[in-house]
Amino acid sequence: MSATENYSIRVEPTQQSRLSQVDFNNLKFGKILSDHMLVATYEDGAWTDVSIVPYGDINVSPSMSALHYGQAIFEGIKAYKFQDGTISIFRPDKNWERFNTSAARLEMPEVPEEIFLGGLKKLLATDNKWIPNAPGTSLYIRPFMFGTEAALGVHPSNSYKFIIITSPVGAYYSNPLKLKVETHYTRAAEGGVGFSKNAGNYALSLYPTRLANDEGFDQLMWTDASEHKYIEEAGTANLIFRIGDSIITPHGDTILHGVTRRTIMELAASWGYKTEQRRVSVKELIDGIKAGIVTDAFAAGTAATLTPIATIGYEGELFQLPPVEGRDFSKKVLTYLDDLRYGRIADEFGWNLIVE
Ligand code: COI
Repeated sequence: MSATENYSIRVEPTQQSRLSQVDFNNLKFGKILSDHMLVATYEDGAWTDVSIVPYGDINVSPSMSALHYGQAIFEGIKAYKFQDGTISIFRPDKNWERFNTSAARLEMPEVPEEIFLGGLKKLLATDNKWIPNAPGTSLYIRPFMFGTEAALGVHPSNSYKFIIITSPVGAYYSNPLKLKVETHYTRAAEGGVGFSKNAGNYALSLYPTRLANDEGFDQLMWTDASEHKYIEEAGTANLIFRIGDSIITPHGDTILHGVTRRTIMELAASWGYKTEQRRVSVKELIDGIKAGIVTDAFAAGTAATLTPIATIGYEGELFQLPPVEGRDFSKKVLTYLDDLRYGRIADEFGWNLIVE
């Protein structure tokens, strides 16, 4: 079926909504799942049976290929509710494109726009009461796909599930971050899968991150695989620095090409800042902190939104970034994005996808 062909999306409403049990004033990231999910099946080279069904467990085979060989990819997107009740999804077209880039790298099928974006809009219309509208809250959207073939040979699965689940959320990080520059373990190497949003990239980060947590750090600042000299990303988010008069973000296929990162770099350029996407060495960053020319530094991601970096640990030394209150650039970005996502200002770039 082509992307232009019609998929009829069946809706099976839940008989037992869990909405009244949710404390919307106390939302922890990803703990509460909305009433419905979208499920589509790929078999014999085509997507079939696209349905919105009550959220719940699914049956899988113990020999399902994703469990053994890791064909599993996902996305993170957020939807917002304006004061007048309008539902808006932030740049989901970019997530759809990235999802299919991840799929191609892992030898998985593409998901057509009509299922990914059309299905998402229908899911949000179904669960629209689950989208919170208090400041700092949103509906986190998790589309994912995995190989379902029951077979132990190493080959691309011949069947897949594409599922979208959603979760009302508050902040992912509630405090400025203390990051450790990782100089031993590696997240991604040239020619690998660092740019793709596949489950394995997160699994491999857990052990080194736990070691850093044990030392009192919140997260890692990954560096390049060959020399551990160049900064890459934080694993849960991209990194952006203001050094001198430039807004700079590490670049390359060993990092995830984040939608929030892209958005902030596009905003910075449109506001007249000098922007650079290039390699950033740890030395440049540390020297810049010592010289007082690193005036802003933050993690940028869908879940993380924009989380300031307070401290960077490198080879046993701690380096303090300037106080968060004085960071003009990140404050301007946060205010702008909040106003845009909650519909308080005009959508000059066309980034809000409104759900009718
Ligand atoms: C996201 O920002 O959407 C991610 O997938 C990161 C993850 C740590 C929740």
